Amino acid sequence: MSEEKFKKIISHAKEYGFIFQSSEIYDGLSAVYDYGQNGVLLKNNIKEYWWKSMTQFNENIVGIDSAIFSHPTTWKASGHLDAFNDPLIDNKDSKKRYRADNLIEDFIQKIEKKLSKLIEKNRKRFGESFDEETFLSTNDRAKKYKAEINDLKSNLNKALNEENLDLLKEIIISKNISCPVSGTTYWTDVKQFNLMFNTKVGASAESATELFLRPETAQGIFLNYLNVQKTGRMKIPFGIAQIGKAFRNEIIARQFIFRMREFEQMEMQFFVKPGTQKKWYEQWKKNRMEWHLSIGINKNNYRFHDHDKLAHYADAACDIEFNFPFGFKELEGIHSRTDFDLANHEKFSSKQIKYFDPEDESKYIPYVVETSIGLDRMFLAVFSNSLCFESLEDGSQRTVLKIPKILAPNQCAILPLVKKDGLADFAKELKNQLKVKFKLIYDEKDAIGRRYRRQDALGTPFCITVDHQTLDDKTITIRDRDSMKQKRIKVDELENFLFKSFEISNWLK
Ligand code: GAP
Repeated sequence: MSEEKFKKIISHAKEYGFIFQSSEIYDGLSAVYDYGQNGVLLKNNIKEYWWKSMTQFNENIVGIDSAIFSHPTTWKASGHLDAFNDPLIDNKDSKKRYRADNLIEDFIQKIEKKLSKLIEKNRKRFGESFDEETFLSTNDRAKKYKAEINDLKSNLNKALNEENLDLLKEIIISKNISCPVSGTTYWTDVKQFNLMFNTKVGASAESATELFLRPETAQGIFLNYLNVQKTGRMKIPFGIAQIGKAFRNEIIARQFIFRMREFEQMEMQFFVKPGTQKKWYEQWKKNRMEWHLSIGINKNNYRFHDHDKLAHYADAACDIEFNFPFGFKELEGIHSRTDFDLANHEKFSSKQIKYFDPEDESKYIPYVVETSIGLDRMFLAVFSNSLCFESLEDGSQRTVLKIPKILAPNQCAILPLVKKDGLADFAKELKNQLKVKFKLIYDEKDAIGRRYRRQDALGTPFCITVDHQTLDDKTITIRDRDSMKQKRIKVDELENFLFKSFEISNWLK
């Protein structure tokens, strides 16, 4: 997708009340965004779809809502104080700061693009007889690109795994990677930078305690593991789900709501018996991909990416990547976190966290398989995928947000064809009947065609029109957002139609 389209997505999000730059009247705050009157509805619907799928569709998963602040030792035990760093490099000419690993990844992507272009060119040239594998192993230029990509990837992984900052710089220099702003290669050394925000609580400077804004919601789940297990009489395996804010002092704050400094996560920690984590990891990979596909976005937009560099707590990890407007990027992480967190909290708190397993009378610290999805990224995935610009048969254009119906901010709009002749009264009464059961909009301003277009741009799946025939035979028309087709049904059948369209169990099978 072009940069042009991405710009249109951002401006549509603003124009229709989905997302605003935070503190816009003061020229904005970088990488912080506010959700508007329609954005909050879409966001809440995504939350609800995830929350229900986790806590209502699984008997052994419960939810919590832990505080954003926690005891500062939490972050020592979790490893975030020591290891939650990004490797940074500055360009001395532009004074711009970058993540060294991202600069190298972007460079790799450029070579990958060149290779894809070369493949496509030759595919066209040779037609049906083209065999990609043979081409890759025989064409000199393709072989050169492939070798360079593999070399770069393996060096990057080595540098990240060994936290070798000199090697990161060496790669940047040896490949002549330049600053996108100044175009020069006048770089500083690479330095580690901790991503946690800190603040102080306490009445006076001397007695104040340093606290951290949580960089992930997961630790609130670990801190409450024992409380939930005991009070809920939970038996392993079981899960704890949570949705909440997380904060990271991201250095590279570009790409709209993809990388924010204040964002929301939807995380679930699944506690399992040690030795069974591989099985559960595979199971949750499958479950989470099914959840994504259940929404109805084309499956070609998703792919798994296994991690080569594992986080300090993981023994296996992958991402579900989504085809965002700027290419495939991480949408969700699935991590087998071992007993790293619980064991460390046991150590640092000196409190027993072990589980007594009645099945075989063993005692152990559970292992954890985690699923962690960024709510804002999910929003961006849905929103960017839904925005379409269509040319219609009559030569006109329409902008339509084809948001999966189950997530649409409003489920239907009730529109009297005209205000007069009692149509508005009928429509208002219909609205009052339905408003407690469905999320709906009532609109009587402007010509009906303009009102349809407005609802298309807001992503409302159905427009229900009350016209003169309605008064005669108690029927209304339902216009489908995506096909623009209209059908006439009895007013009495409307509620059932809407229930069927928005029944979550029809989506989350
Ligand atoms: N508890 C594990 C954890 O936090 P992560 O891969 O660092 O893992 C999980 O984050 C998800 O949170 C990511 O897949 C992404 O969707 C979202 N996320 C992370 N940083 C983000 C940011 N700065 N802005 C928006 N979403 C972010």
